[in-house]
Amino acid sequence: MNPLQINDENYRALAQRVVGLSCEYLGALPQLRTFPQITGTSVRDALAGALPEKGQGAVALDALAEVLRLSRPPSPRFFGYVLGSGEPVAALGDYLASVLNQNLTAWRSAPAAVTLERQTIESLAAALHCPGLRGSFCGGGSLANLMGLAMAREAHVPANAQGASLGIVYASTEVHMSIPKAMALLGLGREQLHLVPVDQDFRMDVAQLEQAIAADRAAGRRPFAVVASSGTVNTGSIDPLPEIAAVCRAQGLWLHVDGAYGALAALAVPERFAGLNEADSLSLDPHKWLYQPLDCGLLLYRDAAAARRAFSFSGEYVRPLAEDPVEAFAFFDESLELSRRFRALKLWLSLNYHGLEAFRCAIREDLKHAQQLAHHVRLSERLELCAPVSLSAVCFRHRPVPGAGDADAFNAAVLRRVLERGRIYLSNATLGGAFMLRACFVNHRTTDEDVAQVVPEVLAAADEVQASGRPQR
Ligand SMILES: Cc1ncc(COP(=O)(O)O)c(C=O)c1O
Repeated sequence: MNPLQINDENYRALAQRVVGLSCEYLGALPQLRTFPQITGTSVRDALAGALPEKGQGAVALDALAEVLRLSRPPSPRFFGYVLGSGEPVAALGDYLASVLNQNLTAWRSAPAAVTLERQTIESLAAALHCPGLRGSFCGGGSLANLMGLAMAREAHVPANAQGASLGIVYASTEVHMSIPKAMALLGLGREQLHLVPVDQDFRMDVAQLEQAIAADRAAGRRPFAVVASSGTVNTGSIDPLPEIAAVCRAQGLWLHVDGAYGALAALAVPERFAGLNEADSLSLDPHKWLYQPLDCGLLLYRDAAAARRAFSFSGEYVRPLAEDPVEAFAFFDESLELSRRFRALKLWLSLNYHGLEAFRCAIREDLKHAQQLAHHVRLSERLELCAPVSLSAVCFRHRPVPGAGDADAFNAAVLRRVLERGRIYLSNATLGGAFMLRACFVNHRTTDEDVAQVVPEVLAAADEVQASGRPQR
């Protein structure tokens, strides 16, 4: 017998232990610190050890509890970055996807899985009022943005055969870092990304976009795409999509919408996302605001031929054998990835288990929590709100403290102290060059009571920073 084989009884026992561990963990989650009391060295030492030549058997699972203990938990009071806290029904789908081990290269290799992915995407696009868009799941918003810009480039300044030539892309100064990264990777160069100023609500200034396009054309440069953000990473601001779409149409430019953070909220508040359906390509991240376990990104696009122009280049060994167009379908003709995991299973299971209405409701709760926090911040004389709350991100900071030195350094020290205290988890943003505390609500576990802890925690952390005499800058 192959030494990697395991009998049914042993496997069931292992699976039951993992299920038991995960249920206990989820039960304890509200009581856990939002960041464990660890250091880089303590984690490295705890997880050190050479791989054994002889298997440990079921004892190997003992270490899983240690991995959980050292991890940053998906706590109800986690408000950092833009990260959902992992809907556990979806996690069961993920588990089964790994057991099934389908490779979603093409229908030929994974018929049910490829069909389910295509149908889930079609239904999700319709629920977002973007019927007719198709697409593929991928690792996350960064990859979706890269693929969207690869399609734009191939449609307007083709590079796949001869290599990249210069072409200009526009985005606001608030654009996510994955866009300049995509420009670099696509051989266009970060300097060909022209950043358009934002208005006081951190939305792209469309008049300045038009001026920038005109100036570039006059200088002989070649504009070909605009990236609009539907939920900027710092403040959740939504660029004026209808106006930007009109500019793109008039100027013959590709419109890519980075909706990785915000656009899935169109399920709950579609009126804020007018113009979304005018995108040529649209990035979404169900692992953010559909609460899915990582990873689950999604690129939607209008024109499958444009996707094929960008991505279709296949070897004989994967060529479809069927005549039937459904059976001949291959994701690798329309996306960057060849080997692809069955990401649709978790999302489909989670959506079917809870129903769309439950997700709309959870998104509305997040929006409400952001407004609640903004309200608490406004009530505090010591804190100031630093940006409008368009979606679920709240940027705020401690007002300058006489004698406590530089306000940025003080707020950075407050954030470090908040994380050390371990009762809530915030991250940070830089707005207008200034350091902000930032809470982002895309967490289905958060309650009103959790939100109510944020301001008292920040103030307590600020008191401790002041008492400690830090920071010196
Ligand atoms: C607006 C925006 N775009 C793109 C991304 C990148 O997404 P991912 O981390 O899934 O690659 C993020 C991540 O926070 C984001 O907020």
